[in-house]
Amino acid sequence: MKIKFLCFVLFFPAILHAQEVDGRLIEENFAFAEKQYLFMKEQNPAPDRMPQSYDAKTGKFDARDITWWCSGFYPGTLWYIYEQTGSEAIRKEAERALAVIEPNQHFTGNHDLGFMMYCSFGNAYRLTGNEAYKPVILNAARSLSTRYRPQIYSIQSWNKNDYFNCPVIIDNLMNLEMLIRATQMGGDSRFREIAVIHANTTLKNHFRPDYSSYHVVDYNLETGQPLRKATWQGAANTSAWSRGQAWALYGYTTLYGLTRDPAYLKQARGIAGFILDHPNLPGDKIPYWDFDAPLQPKAYRDASAGAIIASALLELGQYTSGAEKDRYVRDAGHMIRSLASDTYRAKYGENGGFLLKHSVGALPLNSEIDVPLIYADYYFLEALKRYKDWYLR
Ligand code: GLY
Repeated sequence: MKIKFLCFVLFFPAILHAQEVDGRLIEENFAFAEKQYLFMKEQNPAPDRMPQSYDAKTGKFDARDITWWCSGFYPGTLWYIYEQTGSEAIRKEAERALAVIEPNQHFTGNHDLGFMMYCSFGNAYRLTGNEAYKPVILNAARSLSTRYRPQIYSIQSWNKNDYFNCPVIIDNLMNLEMLIRATQMGGDSRFREIAVIHANTTLKNHFRPDYSSYHVVDYNLETGQPLRKATWQGAANTSAWSRGQAWALYGYTTLYGLTRDPAYLKQARGIAGFILDHPNLPGDKIPYWDFDAPLQPKAYRDASAGAIIASALLELGQYTSGAEKDRYVRDAGHMIRSLASDTYRAKYGENGGFLLKHSVGALPLNSEIDVPLIYADYYFLEALKRYKDWYLR
């Protein structure tokens, strides 16, 4: 017993230190990101499409049409790099990419407008104050609000299809910030109202008692009631798909910051507990692609979920205190260090120019398995920025 205690006293500071993020690590990662993204720019075979992923086996660079839900992450990532490095070459590419995706402001084909237009134009507006970006954000908020269905008190995520009648997915929480910001910018007050109504409906219908979330709730538009609760990208209808849990944590943390509704803070804390206390969270704190994924023969990690969770925990640390806050910041630091290690971070000129390896898009659809994904890079850099802004000693 005494020996155990002695080991704890001797090694505990070393464990803490190993999980800390210092200024050098942050600076090195942004300097690397600048070089790597300028390399990536040369790999993209179709500049009117946005970088998405890369297949190391075939050497194929995957760039997608601008209406793909991820089109805002490339310009958004470039803005985060520009913010830290001041690189004019990066800024020029960020502005070029914004011009390419600008038509999305009128897109109403799905709910992903926040991802597409706020990660991109929102960051551009924050950093430059360029008033030309504002109407684009307001138009995107208007387009998103056309998908609000008053019968179900929610924004419809995807259109009716062979599998779902009126699906609302947990990811949709991430599109609400743009609606609230658009109202704050002088846009219609209805944008904010819709965001809050949607967030409250999701609170009611998407969660299980342990704070894990279903991926999809399919609604009946006649009765306004959920028809069934299911998954699209997770291991099972009843499982906890890791990126879904990440979106839920990030969503309610951001919503609390924007509204100060204590119900959102309670939810974010509950979700953080579910993730951080989960027996299947690996030692390096980067989740498997689903918390309930069968571990045999192999469960892939999802670096994107790790990056989103790290960034969200750092914001949650801003709304909590004492040991609770310390835990969020320490675990986020651990995730950042894991992602920045050779296990996850690519070398210069590798990985199609993406920063992180080992993400999973949609395993049950046999799509994007153990690959780089643009949004993993985006939230990784956001987490580094947040750590620098809020916690660097
Ligand atoms: N919003 C889709 C995903 O997280 O894969």
